[in-house]
Amino acid sequence: MSSQSAPLKNVLVTGGAGYIGSHIIYCLQKTRNYKVISIDNSYNSKSEALNRVSRLSKSELPANPTDRDLESTEIDAFKADLTQPDQVRAVFEKYGKGGIWGVIHIAALKAVGESTEIPLEYYYTNVAATISLLRTMNDFDCHRIVYSSSATVYGTPPIIPIPESTRLQADSPYGRTKIMGETILSDLCYSDKKWRALSLRYFNPAGAHPSGLIGEDPRGRPGNLLPLLAHMAVGRVDNKSLKVFGNDYPTPDGTCVRDYLHILDLAKGHVLALDALSPESKVFPSDSESFFKGYNLGKGKGVSVLQIIEAMRKATGFDYQYEIIGRRRGDVPDLTADPSLAEKELGFSAPQDLEAMCRDLWNWQTKNPNGYDVEEEPKKSS
Ligand code: NAD
Ligand code: WQD
Repeated sequence: MSSQSAPLKNVLVTGGAGYIGSHIIYCLQKTRNYKVISIDNSYNSKSEALNRVSRLSKSELPANPTDRDLESTEIDAFKADLTQPDQVRAVFEKYGKGGIWGVIHIAALKAVGESTEIPLEYYYTNVAATISLLRTMNDFDCHRIVYSSSATVYGTPPIIPIPESTRLQADSPYGRTKIMGETILSDLCYSDKKWRALSLRYFNPAGAHPSGLIGEDPRGRPGNLLPLLAHMAVGRVDNKSLKVFGNDYPTPDGTCVRDYLHILDLAKGHVLALDALSPESKVFPSDSESFFKGYNLGKGKGVSVLQIIEAMRKATGFDYQYEIIGRRRGDVPDLTADPSLAEKELGFSAPQDLEAMCRDLWNWQTKNPNGYDVEEEPKKSS
């Protein structure tokens, strides 16, 4: 049976309404092989993001779509909290045993600084809820999972570009939750070969879908560099002078170097990873000790803070002013991926350049100066 005539596979995406989740759902829908189920508690997202994904996917349907095409653009969206096992179980019950083919587990709290202030919330959401999700998956005969990890699991890495073989060591509670998530998945896969898990270590995702319909909508003043520059240019934050955190790092211009990749390249990596969980995938030879692996998703190209400012100046035409202040606690000089393993084994690539990332970010920001800008329930905390 060709994949186009096989039934759609149900894939549960946790955190589906968030920045990365919404772009992943778009890419899953584009394959017409998956039917997406989303769980999100709206803590850091708005359901409007999912309405827009469906709209976007429908706008790309062929002139005479089949029922299968149409079904692939629908999202079964559940407002549910992963820290409430009953709510997650209720979703699985709707599809029954074996009804969900695989899970892309994205939902998490993700602010490094905040994780040092409220670590219990981070361990509860990122670790305890992950364990509970895995137990529920097991109860419903669902044993395939793609996990959102982060370059932060490398702490201050000894080798640049960073290979996956680097010892994991994080400098924040957030980073440690991601190492714990990977450890739990690895132990689980060693204990029982019915489990297959791929952990994707993201470097710095940037940009938006080129339509400008979906993008990153951070709460309040953004802490991350690119969304902050976009908010400055659109006049959403009043401070016109960017504070650059240090120019005395051992890097070419003294400012920190990061590996930025386009959000759609990152999202496509998830479709490849999900496909690699199929029994016929070559990622796991049948004599593997376990079916767990971690992969870097980055471009493999380092870009400094000053280079980012220049690229955003070109994209926006905005005359950024900046001042150099002291280093930010926890920043490391250089986080550049060695993505060759993901390229070789998953067929991953991140071809879009910094210009495209800044262009698409700016397109999203100008079309949506206030983000999704729809009234929804207030968020729990910041
Ligand atoms: P995001 O905040 O936009 O998305 C996370 C989503 O999870 C949000 O929609 C939020 O409402 C939801 N969520 C949070 N807690 C939940 C809960 N208890 N129950 C249900 N839903 C919950 O963040 P993002 O940037 O899309 O990041 C997604 C994932 O990628 C996270 O796991 C993050 O740690 C990881 N990551 C992100 C980056 C980055 O730069 N954005 C880099 C590396 C790794
Ligand atoms: C980029 C560079 C700053 C703001 C973070 C998390 C990481 C991952 C991605 C989730 C740094 C500098 C920033 C500003 C600045 N998230 N900067 N002035 O720190 O690489 O990664 O997001 O997993 O875990 O730590 O991204 O965008 O915050 O910073 O000079 O006002 O820009 O010092 O060098 P970072 P960022």
